[in-house]
Amino acid sequence: MKLLVTGGCGFIGSHFIRHVLDQRPEWNIVNLDALTYAGNLSTTLDIQTHPRYRFAYGSVTDRDLVNTLIESVDAVVHFAAETHVDRSLHDVEPFILTNILGTGRLIDACRRYNKRFHHVSTDEVFGSLGPTDPKFYEGSPYAPLNPYSATKAAADHLVRASVHTHGLQATISNCTNNYGAYLYPEKFLSIAITNLLEGRPVVIHGDGSQVRDWIHAQDHARGVLLILEKGKLGETYMMGGGNECSILDTAKTLLRLMGLSQDMIRFVNDRPGQDRRYAIEYTKIQTELGWQPQVSFEDGLREMVQWYRENKQWWAPIKQSAGYSEWYQKQVERNGGHV
Ligand SMILES: NC(=O)c1ccc[n+]([C@@H]2O[C@H](COP(=O)([O-])OP(=O)(O)OC[C@H]3O[C@@H](n4cnc5c(N)ncnc54)[C@H](O)[C@@H]3O)[C@@H](O)[C@H]2O)c1
Repeated sequence: MKLLVTGGCGFIGSHFIRHVLDQRPEWNIVNLDALTYAGNLSTTLDIQTHPRYRFAYGSVTDRDLVNTLIESVDAVVHFAAETHVDRSLHDVEPFILTNILGTGRLIDACRRYNKRFHHVSTDEVFGSLGPTDPKFYEGSPYAPLNPYSATKAAADHLVRASVHTHGLQATISNCTNNYGAYLYPEKFLSIAITNLLEGRPVVIHGDGSQVRDWIHAQDHARGVLLILEKGKLGETYMMGGGNECSILDTAKTLLRLMGLSQDMIRFVNDRPGQDRRYAIEYTKIQTELGWQPQVSFEDGLREMVQWYRENKQWWAPIKQSAGYSEWYQKQVERNGGHV
């Protein structure tokens, strides 16, 4: 099998590539990545010279490149995206280009060359749950509430429409919040861990009552491979971690695991359009494909902290880069002095 993975220099894509190289000794992977601020060659440093891995620099919006690459592979797994909600609130254009146009280009090429396509999406396309609402499932209505999730929802619809209209051989997965090694230090857990390692506080937007359902990126990667191989064409599969936890309780757990005081928590204004709760019902993938999360939240978080302790050479240069500083400064101004 020859696989095209998009966005493999990002967080989850890199976990997926490592998982496939490890678990499928016959498979070859081409990783198409535009190396945006979130994509980093240091994220794939350990596999750069792997004999069954090849990096292709470029954008999923580049029609000719996408056509050439897809013609020569058997299947495509699409992770590439603009992924940070806060950034989408300030500038939606890159989200529209990569998440919508880019997905459209991949779909067109897969149709043209009759290739299998798996689209990686998020539970954020379903909007936000109230405290007692039933969890999201495959039949939940689409109701995105921020520009990031709106563009991911549009991409999901393009895939669904192409399955319906053209018989695209596609599957979709909608997954909840991921954590683990290589999480870019602009998301809650990676900022919190790296700040704490630098002796700075954990910043919580609002009162911290927002609930997230954390899943380890390795569990997500396992699920994507399973869907690619055994998922029913045209179907959507939800993946969750079974770890519903408020942001405040997540911060407290993190401080406990790091042996630090809860005085390290700082509260700042909530961001506009903050979703209150995400939670996923993953019965379908569990019963049809036998998947369930294997990493407990505490074990995964402990391992994540350890990884950031041991891999400062990965995250410190990112935090010192010009692009990161510019983004960081904007957050400091908005939050009144903390990030
Ligand atoms: N992080 C989560 O918690 C989460 C949860 C559910 C779903 N997802 C989805 O999983 C996928 C991967 O998320 P992530 O957190 O690893 O993202 P990330 O931001 O860490 O990485 C995204 C990668 O895509 C690349 N990329 C961006 N634009 C590109 C373009 N035009 N062409 C080629 N490459 C491009 C970047 O360089 C980067 O390597 C996304 O589709 C996201 O919506 C993420």
